[in-house]
Amino acid sequence: MGYKVVVAGATGNVGREMLNILAEREFPVDEIAALASRKSLGTEVSFGDKTIKTKDLDTFDFTGWDIALFAVGSDATKVYAPKAAAAGCVVIDNSSLYRYDPDVPLIVPEVNADAIEGYRKKNIIANPNCSTAQMVVALKPIHDRAKITRVVVATYQSVSGAGKAGIDELWDQTKSIYNPVSEVPPKKFSKQIAFNVIPHIDVFLDDGSTKEEWKMVAETKKILDKSIKVTATCVRVPVFVGHSEAVNIETEEFLDWQEAQEILREAPGVMVVDKREPGGYITPIECVGEYATYVSRIRQDSTIENGLNLWCVSDNLRKGAALNAVQIAELLGNRCLKKG
Ligand SMILES: NC(=O)c1ccc[n+]([C@@H]2O[C@H](COP(=O)([O-])OP(=O)(O)OC[C@H]3O[C@@H](n4cnc5c(N)ncnc54)[C@H](OP(=O)(O)O)[C@@H]3O)[C@@H](O)[C@H]2O)c1
Repeated sequence: MGYKVVVAGATGNVGREMLNILAEREFPVDEIAALASRKSLGTEVSFGDKTIKTKDLDTFDFTGWDIALFAVGSDATKVYAPKAAAAGCVVIDNSSLYRYDPDVPLIVPEVNADAIEGYRKKNIIANPNCSTAQMVVALKPIHDRAKITRVVVATYQSVSGAGKAGIDELWDQTKSIYNPVSEVPPKKFSKQIAFNVIPHIDVFLDDGSTKEEWKMVAETKKILDKSIKVTATCVRVPVFVGHSEAVNIETEEFLDWQEAQEILREAPGVMVVDKREPGGYITPIECVGEYATYVSRIRQDSTIENGLNLWCVSDNLRKGAALNAVQIAELLGNRCLKKG
């Protein structure tokens, strides 16, 4: 006996990947429902070798369904996740709505799987921000060995992190620059994204940082260790899929770069590609469709006593969202629901 699984937001970037990954990993699905907004009613989406028609989230009855993977944004989540949870269906949510709620576990299975039991309070589990998810996968083994005290990170985030509209804007703007029949002014992003980079993701906060930067701080603390200091600069780059991060790490104990490389090679979810030669590192285009968090350019930071630098790349729609959500569903199934 398997699970009755709902994917809400099935027509979106993350929802489509959720369906792909459920099928790829042979999650024990007895029945699947793909939901989106009313305007997408009947839209066909793929689930393995099957095609399914999307239903309307607004009128869907969650009674009798086991797990709902949500990727609909915070506004719709606020309305529908509590309904699903109240009907006895465990929600695994990709929006930021519940991430900082003390009664909702925020989980990256390679890092804090034991937090899963906390789902019982609200029947909701939160999935982290894409940039945080890949970073904590790389930080966890280093933290376990040498205790991380401070992290300074700069991100290079792809446009798919801003949904379907982000991908369309980069595509259309790029085409319009080559073939200027019509102008494509910035809409989803605050400035031109084609052939540019934008040091601004999500809204500005009072201290001059952005909400995306704040999320990396708050979520790293909640998932990995509340004592770790994090400071981030989040930047949107004209890449379709794949987030990259330049990470500077300060530790309590000295950790040699070679040992860091070895520890990371053994770590779950991490793939080290680190040859000190041209091309001996991973770029975002190479991580598309992959599960791993790739780590390259591991080296000592000689400006501090105990410091390392590394480059971390992952598919933001996969480890940053859909894959992590399906891994949480697997964890929930194996440890708590125990069907299948
Ligand atoms: N992209 C990433 O890297 C990433 C990473 C981590 C978390 N997330 C989060 O995942 C969520 C989805 O992101 P995305 O990139 O997949 O966005 P997207 O491509 O824009 O897709 C949004 C999906 O949500 C559905 N939706 C929106 N409002 C709805 C409503 N009121 N009722 C029913 N369905 C509704 C849309 O349905 P229609 O097609 O019918 O409009 C679509 O299926 C967001 O919360 C985002 O913050 C994204």
